[in-house]
Amino acid sequence: MTNIIQVEDSSANIAIVIGASSKIAIALIQRLSGANASPNVVAISRQFSATARADFDSNVTLLQSDYTDKSIREICEQLKPHKGQVSHVFICNGMLHDADISPEKRVDDVSGDNLHGVFQVNAVIPMLWVKYLKPVLAGKRNCVVTAFSARIGSIEDNQRGGWYSYRASKAALNMLLKTAAIEYTRIAKGVRFLVFHPGTTDTPLSKPFQKFVSEGKLFTPEFVAGRLLDLVEAETVDNSIRFIDWDGKSIPW
Ligand SMILES: NC(=O)c1ccc[n+]([C@@H]2O[C@H](COP(=O)([O-])OP(=O)(O)OC[C@H]3O[C@@H](n4cnc5c(N)ncnc54)[C@H](OP(=O)(O)O)[C@@H]3O)[C@@H](O)[C@H]2O)c1
Repeated sequence: MTNIIQVEDSSANIAIVIGASSKIAIALIQRLSGANASPNVVAISRQFSATARADFDSNVTLLQSDYTDKSIREICEQLKPHKGQVSHVFICNGMLHDADISPEKRVDDVSGDNLHGVFQVNAVIPMLWVKYLKPVLAGKRNCVVTAFSARIGSIEDNQRGGWYSYRASKAALNMLLKTAAIEYTRIAKGVRFLVFHPGTTDTPLSKPFQKFVSEGKLFTPEFVAGRLLDLVEAETVDNSIRFIDWDGKSIPW
């Protein structure tokens, strides 16, 4: 099997960014690939626009995925020769609304199709990556796997109700990752998980709701990417998983 990334030695450093068209992911990739000791970045997306391609340095490998089980499995197969080289995984996928789906205000708005669609993007796809990356991450190499969740997925913190699909799918994501983190401590001792709430960030996902955000509370993708990379670098092996916000503060599960 040919390596998808040309790296010079076995101690090479690889960062995998999934859902790479996300505005926060783009800012992350730009920071990662522009850093002094820059890792080789593998960016995975459903499709890369011409502008997204132009946004990335030449040390970024672009891979397309339709996020079916088969596609995720095949990409992780391709990554197997890089076992022991991956230091960071960022799973950025998330959906709050699309042309057909809006967050539900009341129980009458809930539909099976919408629940399925939102759960697929927010919980099923990230979990399939965690499943198929296991052989790539197995071993002792330190690696932080970050999945983008949301404070609204906290069951304890749910005071306001509404947004059924998004809320419940992020709660499901959190539980899936917490369960995977327990298993990973046995087979990939260097892997830690961060379940990350970026704060309200100026991206297409939050666009329809930004008028409700107080002044100074709408972050730029660049700010969030910087905060996340600082938090990832400060992560220690003491915790197998944490649910934290952009400020590094723990969020109740
Ligand atoms: N923006 C906020 O205020 C905010 C707040 C809390 C949490 N978050 C979370 O932060 C993460 C990044 O979001 P963002 O704000 O950067 O949003 P964004 O720019 O709208 O990016 C959307 C992301 O979701 C993926 N995606 C969208 N529809 C999909 C579908 N049908 N199937 C598979 N993947 C799909 C995209 O992947 P492709 O690259 O494959 O297109 C991309 O990674 C999300 O998980 C989101 O829930 C955001």
